[in-house]
Amino acid sequence: MVSPFARLPRSVRVVEVGPRDGLQNEKALVPTEQKIRFIQMLAGAGLPVVEATSFVSPRAIPQLSDASDVMSGITRLATPSYPVLVPNVKGMERALAAGARAIAVFTAASESFTRHNINATIAESLANFRPVVAMAQREGVPVRGYISTVFGCPYEGRVETRQALDVAQDLLAMGISELSLGDTIGVATPNQVIDVIGLFTEEGNIPVEQIAVHFHDTRGTALANVLAALQSGISIVDSSAGGLGGCPYAPGAAGNLATEDLLYMLRGMGIETGVDLEKVLEATSFIAPYLGHMPTSKYYQAAMASV
Ligand code: HMG
Ligand code: MG
Repeated sequence: MVSPFARLPRSVRVVEVGPRDGLQNEKALVPTEQKIRFIQMLAGAGLPVVEATSFVSPRAIPQLSDASDVMSGITRLATPSYPVLVPNVKGMERALAAGARAIAVFTAASESFTRHNINATIAESLANFRPVVAMAQREGVPVRGYISTVFGCPYEGRVETRQALDVAQDLLAMGISELSLGDTIGVATPNQVIDVIGLFTEEGNIPVEQIAVHFHDTRGTALANVLAALQSGISIVDSSAGGLGGCPYAPGAAGNLATEDLLYMLRGMGIETGVDLEKVLEATSFIAPYLGHMPTSKYYQAAMASV
């Protein structure tokens, strides 16, 4: 019998988003010094990408209002990149001044979410990114593009996948190197993941190497969705140490897929990541006391229960 896992990638690039997507959704304001240490510990664990912070309006996300100090405070290792989120030219100027060398812009597949998140229509958000991407290109800074609500929207419910594909094609035409497809509210199921990736790669002709998946584990389907994505040829997966983050639309629910849970599954399946799971666990143990609650990662909880 041919294994249903015969087409899985040999290695996966794990994009750590805990210091950004995680901490932006935590109630606690973590001191700058501890954020810097957390980022450095994650980089030291061998993660190839550690998304460090966001240069957004401090009124929108007070948790990351120390972005400049965080970015300029990190002692960087040679290997990982430390991208930051940038919504507009003002954010890009702040990011470059603080030494950012990789950025991500972010929009969504649904209008209502885009309005609530960045006070713009999708078209306006794309127009705002154009000068940002041009600045990045002049500086040799790679740009990732997040598309939120690909699998469902907190305001509109089901989202037409073609809307996400249109946004993706606009972003790629702008010169963005990588797309991250977000299940912002954690509603996706594996069949939907296979359908979306099929549409993007087959009808949209988007190379699978340019697509990352970004699952939130609000309803416990994140790992199943990752497996479906890997079976569809995806080899870039976003996750957050400890599962940091929570969900603003489902208070108390789990946040991003936890890095430890992802690494445990990939290691068990013989898929290389180059990341030391125990060192990620140490980073989560370090940050946990500053959160005011137990991290939601299942691997973390099991590890803590057995010490
Ligand atoms: P706005 O109010 O429409 O913008 O916000 P504005 O241009 O009118 O500016 C209002 C004020 O903000 C002004 O200050 C600006 O200077 C300031 P004032 O004159 O009133 O004192 N401002 C800034 N300050 C610092 N840095 C900046 C900046 N820009 C304006 N870059 C805006 C529009 C986009 C700025 C705002 O809505 C915003 O910052 N939103 C960010 C929201 C956010 O970060 N959301 C979370 C990230 S997305 C996400 O998590 C999803 C993802 O994980 C994938 C997934 O899970 O789906 C990526
Ligand atoms: Mg997210």
